[in-house]
Amino acid sequence: MTTTDPVVIMKQEVGKAAADRVQSNSIVGLGTGSTTAYAIQYIGERLQKGELTNIVGVPTSFQAEVLAKKYGIPLTTLDAVTHIDVAIDGADEVDPHKNLIKGGGAAHTREKVVDSLANQFIVVVDSGKLVDKLGSTFLLPVEVIPMAVTPVMNKLEQLGGKPELRMGIKKAGPVVTDQGNLVIDVKFESIDNPAELEKTINNMPGVLENGLFVGVADVILVGEIIDGKPSVKEI
Ligand code: 5RP
Repeated sequence: MTTTDPVVIMKQEVGKAAADRVQSNSIVGLGTGSTTAYAIQYIGERLQKGELTNIVGVPTSFQAEVLAKKYGIPLTTLDAVTHIDVAIDGADEVDPHKNLIKGGGAAHTREKVVDSLANQFIVVVDSGKLVDKLGSTFLLPVEVIPMAVTPVMNKLEQLGGKPELRMGIKKAGPVVTDQGNLVIDVKFESIDNPAELEKTINNMPGVLENGLFVGVADVILVGEIIDGKPSVKEI
């Protein structure tokens, strides 16, 4: 289906650019979100055309698994492979040091496992995701086991954050992750030291993982529209 929505066009272009970088005979981490969905679609199309052979995907979520099956990408698990060649995943914010906030789709725990195992981690974003400082536009997602929600929210407030439990859309009650946990989104006025904050939050009892990805991304592909034409730049 063709679209005139510039954000969708940027997502499609950058998804295609990432899919073009996948090589035959490789193990591919399949990220989550609307941008990575295009990469999964294009990887599947390259497989169908015979441009790519012998690919196996490691999904980062139920969504990625469903899409991979839809587009004919064979799947495996981390129990069956010793490494991942390339992972492709989206992000909610990217700073100038290639540090990320992820978790807009509540999949950041599995994403961090898969993305950080990859020999090359390619991030796919539209230009609206680039920020000078993490936390400027997006709340930081924190996955928490259900019985620890209140104490973790209290600790996040003590750290200076404003936490809120993520609620479902078209579902009464909170968002439940693929692991059966809950997500607290936290507004920090300023994230000055993402590496330290990542560790501090992960040290809170009951926290499974937060959405700060520090020093994990190798390549950022950014979809842009310049003079009305879509293009992709690499950072
Ligand atoms: C899911 C994620 C996504 O990669 C992130 O939210 C970006 O999504 P989209 O490409 O739909 O903007 O981290 O947990």
